[in-house]
Amino acid sequence: MRNSIGKILGTASAFEFEFAITNPKNVRRGNYIKVWNDIDGWIIAQISEILALDNPKIAEVTKKREVFVAKARVIGKREEGKLKMPSSPFVPGENVYIAEDSSIAETLGFEKEGIYLGLLGETGVRVNLNPNSLQKHVCILAKTGSGKSYTAGVIIEELLDRDIPLLIIDPHGEYISLKRPNKIKDNEFGIQPKGYAEKIVVYAPPISPFAREADKILSLESKNLSPEELIELSNLRSPSAQALLYQSVRDLENYTISDIIKELEKIKHNGKWTLIGALSKIEQSGLFKERATDMREFLHRGKASLIDFRGIDPPYQALIVSQIASKVFELRKRGEVEPGIIVVEEAHNFIPEREKTVATNILRSIASEGRKFGLGLIVISQRPAKVDKNVISQCNTQIIMRVTNPNDINAIKKSVEGITSEMVKEIKRLAPGYAVLVSPEIDVPIVVKVRTRKSAYDGGFATLNKEEKSTERREREKKGFLKRLLKF
Ligand SMILES: Nc1ncnc2c1ncn2[C@@H]1O[C@H](COP(=O)(O)OP(=O)(O)OP(=O)(O)O)[C@@H](O)[C@H]1O
Ligand SMILES: [Mg+2]
Repeated sequence: MRNSIGKILGTASAFEFEFAITNPKNVRRGNYIKVWNDIDGWIIAQISEILALDNPKIAEVTKKREVFVAKARVIGKREEGKLKMPSSPFVPGENVYIAEDSSIAETLGFEKEGIYLGLLGETGVRVNLNPNSLQKHVCILAKTGSGKSYTAGVIIEELLDRDIPLLIIDPHGEYISLKRPNKIKDNEFGIQPKGYAEKIVVYAPPISPFAREADKILSLESKNLSPEELIELSNLRSPSAQALLYQSVRDLENYTISDIIKELEKIKHNGKWTLIGALSKIEQSGLFKERATDMREFLHRGKASLIDFRGIDPPYQALIVSQIASKVFELRKRGEVEPGIIVVEEAHNFIPEREKTVATNILRSIASEGRKFGLGLIVISQRPAKVDKNVISQCNTQIIMRVTNPNDINAIKKSVEGITSEMVKEIKRLAPGYAVLVSPEIDVPIVVKVRTRKSAYDGGFATLNKEEKSTERREREKKGFLKRLLKF
């Protein structure tokens, strides 16, 4: 047994207690500790706070001039697969010890194998999650730069290692770097570098400036775009133009955009030309084809289909998400694609809290019904307050990284079940790469130090790796130097 780190003080209950720390150098907030309970045996607790006090009575216990007292929150012990709180209080004077990794893992009920997210706080305990529970939706929320996309990448790697089909909506093309192995050698997490080039298929719409870099071009059915979708794409705000559109579509069946234009040409109304111009622009985008991409491809065992949205206008992004998600959900219901997960990065753009986009309804439906059909969601957002609460509250697993904005904190309090005020304090001061995890598999919220990635992460600059970035910088510097030389 390790040496005691302190002794229980004063009035202790079965849920919390305070103890005088005998060796402050080895004790930190968040440490998992264990204490003997006369009725229930060894019990695990966690240090929630450490205070420095001026108290001669406690100084007698610690035999030190400075007095440090820790507040501990009892976690309990695992009995017959369930976490149980002790039935009697702790006895003042009882010794407190740092808990061993094995007893922490057992008490919290971590899986031996599973989605390896990282380590439990500063311990060596691996946090593994059951892949099935991720299919019941995950949200990753945090302020910008806290590590959301990095963490989503960690989960994607784990899912790809298990060949779970994925569809990734990638507004910044920042998941393309998953193709390449990480260059960093890492021992703390026991991770080996690995790239996923064979498993990732990058799609870009023909309107994308990055279409040539993509593995495949994405095109959508040219038939039966609804007036709402056409209004969204053309940004037509004039009520008379909108009315004309509805009028021309009313009697059409199985129509293309050129069928609508032909209908409009027959109508006598001067306002029709703006509408025809707007529709022609959509038609010429090349996104809509008679032979569209077969959406059965999108959820395929051992593959991640990545939709690269760099350089695509937001209304086109929302329409593409809406069409793909609707089709994939329909195919999943009919059993024509395998169970899988859709990853939605920058989710506030597709499912905003206030206004709707054309993708809102289908993403809400997947959030509420997807789990029945084996279609999961991973939603990622930097503005918890600005993302649809209907979707967030459907997420079983919540990964919350640093958040400081009061509106975002309130949104998290409202939509994350079981979040305590202690955890809210923790969320405000998390360092980058650390997350609070709330999961149905673990009885208490925990802090996870997210593991290093196996694959490269360029933080939103997927096309430029470090060497390319420095070559680019050198080129820029060379140009600047030549300019100055010429001026001279
Ligand atoms: N677990 C981690 N280990 C090592 N580095 C990390 C970790 N998490 C994040 N980082 C680093 O922190 C930085 C920010 O991470 P990331 O880009 O994932 O933040 P984000 O929350 O997605 O930000 P944004 O809102 O701007 O998209 C990156 O440079 C990333 O490499
Ligand atoms: Mg990000």
